[in-house]
Amino acid sequence: MATLQEKVTQQFKERFGHMPALVVQSPGRLNMIGEHTDYNMGYVLPAAIDKGIWMALSRSDMGVSVFRAIDMDEEIQLPDFEQLSPFDKGWANYVVGVIDQLLKAEKELGPVKCVFGGNIPIGSGLSSSAALENAICFGLNELFSLGMSKMEMVKHSQKAEHEFVGVMCGIMDQFTSMMGQENKVIRLDCRSLEYETFPLDLQDYELVLLNSNVEHSLASSQYNIRRSQCEEGVAIMQKKDAAIQSLRDASMDLLDQCRNEMSEVVYRRCKYIIEENERVLNFCEALEQKNFEGLGQILKAAQLGMKHEYEITCPEIDFLFDFAYQYPGVIGARMMGGGFGGCTLNIVEKDKEEAYLQDISSAYKDQFGFETTPIKVKISDGVKKVYENDAQGGSA
Ligand code: GLA
Repeated sequence: MATLQEKVTQQFKERFGHMPALVVQSPGRLNMIGEHTDYNMGYVLPAAIDKGIWMALSRSDMGVSVFRAIDMDEEIQLPDFEQLSPFDKGWANYVVGVIDQLLKAEKELGPVKCVFGGNIPIGSGLSSSAALENAICFGLNELFSLGMSKMEMVKHSQKAEHEFVGVMCGIMDQFTSMMGQENKVIRLDCRSLEYETFPLDLQDYELVLLNSNVEHSLASSQYNIRRSQCEEGVAIMQKKDAAIQSLRDASMDLLDQCRNEMSEVVYRRCKYIIEENERVLNFCEALEQKNFEGLGQILKAAQLGMKHEYEITCPEIDFLFDFAYQYPGVIGARMMGGGFGGCTLNIVEKDKEEAYLQDISSAYKDQFGFETTPIKVKISDGVKKVYENDAQGGSA
């Protein structure tokens, strides 16, 4: 079977009659722990995965720019880059949103030809959107020798999502897809952007993702609501302590002192974030000590916080979580990503994995009438060029 790299290259050739100048591989991400902490300036512990977007690009001599999404069999054309505005096609906004950011930053771009495809199920919480944003950003950086640093590209990709897609996301996904390192999880401090890597050595355990195959349309609106509830909590605590700039700066003590001044919902949202930040630090410690039971307990507390305090789970995710924790040989599980569906991550004894996947799959199907899909991932490097052909108008 053709690899995705071969597939996008082939389709590029069929569409434009020549080889691309370059092909970029841009990964999705998983997150061990630290959910919704990124836009609260806290800690996250993600890693890039071996699934993502492959994108073939060249400069265009046709005057117009052409972007083709092979998975959707859809194409958009831009006659020029004047006055870009959001599209009705979801994927186009991730691509054109980045171009819009680069133009605002006064980068000199010309017309391009672009064909891409991926292998991250949409809505699975593995950040196909950040992978796509980074693919085009990295690709254009190469193609037009823009000289941007990786962090600069991360920020353009994130801002594209704010302005063209309308999700006020944090920096975790774009950062991880850009900066990922093979076999390492990255503890990122989302305030200072300093990071430290930890080898993910699970010994007798295996990491397995289970896609709930649920994608709730309220995910993006609820995401922005959670973000403003956190800001509401910060504004209230700031009145007591002017040094509080984000929930990262707040303690449970201070939150409790302010409890009567905020709604019960805002209190619970803030509590979850303050505790989730702690959990990231504790998780790293447990990882270093190879305290696998400890990891499992931290994941459990995180899931319960997402369910009862941050309220971002859904019945299908709750089912996968409950099933996991009553299954012998599973030491930890929780939902990953923005919420309301997507994947759970599961830490399972290697020799129980097969039986676990069979049992959870049939129980899930009985309960909901559709499948949960296991996704095997390897922890991989961030965005990179996987093919270059200078004869086709690569970087000068
Ligand atoms: C989405 C966002 C990230 C992060 C996660 C939740 O993936 O894009 O910035 O907030 O949700 O941790």
